[in-house]
Amino acid sequence: MKVALCGLGEIGQIHLRAIRESGHELVGVLELNRRLAVESVGDEVPIHTEVMEMVELTEPDVVDICLPHHLHVPIAVAALEAGADVLLEKPMAIDLAGCDEIIAAAEAFDHRVGISHNQIHFAPHRRLRELIDAGRLGQIRAIYERLWMGGKYGGWREDSSQVGGGLLMDAGVHRVYMAEYLGGPVETVTAVMDNPRAEDAFAITLGYESGAIGVIQGGYHGPDGVFDDRIEIQATEAMVEILGCEAFFEGDLEGELRLRHRIGGEWVDDPVTGHWDESVIASVQSVLADLAAGREPEVGLREGRSAVAVVEAAYRSAETGRTIRISELEERNS
Ligand SMILES: NC(=O)c1ccc[n+]([C@@H]2O[C@H](COP(=O)([O-])OP(=O)(O)OC[C@H]3O[C@@H](n4cnc5c(N)ncnc54)[C@H](O)[C@@H]3O)[C@@H](O)[C@H]2O)c1
Repeated sequence: MKVALCGLGEIGQIHLRAIRESGHELVGVLELNRRLAVESVGDEVPIHTEVMEMVELTEPDVVDICLPHHLHVPIAVAALEAGADVLLEKPMAIDLAGCDEIIAAAEAFDHRVGISHNQIHFAPHRRLRELIDAGRLGQIRAIYERLWMGGKYGGWREDSSQVGGGLLMDAGVHRVYMAEYLGGPVETVTAVMDNPRAEDAFAITLGYESGAIGVIQGGYHGPDGVFDDRIEIQATEAMVEILGCEAFFEGDLEGELRLRHRIGGEWVDDPVTGHWDESVIASVQSVLADLAAGREPEVGLREGRSAVAVVEAAYRSAETGRTIRISELEERNS
């Protein structure tokens, strides 16, 4: 397939590697930062600053979008209208209305959309999912997830109008889709935040359709430089502790085993390993492989929208002090 890549920043660089290594053909890039674009692709492909020009001149089969969040909807819709499939970084959009615009365009122009929820491709997370599917944990009763960061990235990520929120809408989205990947659909959301829609700290309680309870707690408040995203599970037959894939950014946990479980009365270190960038590459290549085969991507419109719905419910809960049912959002949105 011919693939055009939008955005060559932090994650765009990993997508670039993934596309090059996938055997698909990079046909063009969209990037406002000319120096970065030239450093990244030289004269290998044309560099564009306007999406319509790029899709008209390069006629891509897939447009891969690694841009700030507020650009996801307009660029995805433009790509779909131009006749391409779309690969979109998380989050799918900054609100449910944006997700629905993308869904409507995908239906109208009969094209597919895959979302890069890369952490489901982190090998220890996939191994955990296998254990769940094989019934090794029994019934999951509680999932605790944390996201402790020390410091912010700066740039557009500190502008809530471009992010669509604060920490939850940014790195927190990984915790949200992982909550659903491990525990299934969420029914209710109750949240506390310091400053909803521009939050630096949050705690969310999830009520799963299965009857299980989830907790996601995140904050930017240090110590400086840390990135710690652990998950713990309590199930009827097992307990699990897992160091998330972003916990290894700073190197201070390098060499630690990622996944420990107590199945059948004994704690075991599972030898499966993985790294953050491998999970991004696997995620990009998985979407490209599904699109090339004409299949719905493993993570598509439904999963992308579902994660945004949980975030939206959390914002409304924090603003109103009420528990929000996901079904309530659907009524308001229809
Ligand atoms: N999966 C992950 O672990 C992960 C990690 C980082 C970022 N992300 C996601 O990737 C996306 C991009 O984030 P990032 O950290 O790479 O951002 P970034 O700021 O590092 O890169 C964004 C790039 O887009 C370019 N850009 C901005 N507006 C543009 C426009 N109108 N036209 C063309 N180019 C434009 C910028 O020049 C910049 O190079 C976001 O959705 C973010 O949430 C995901």
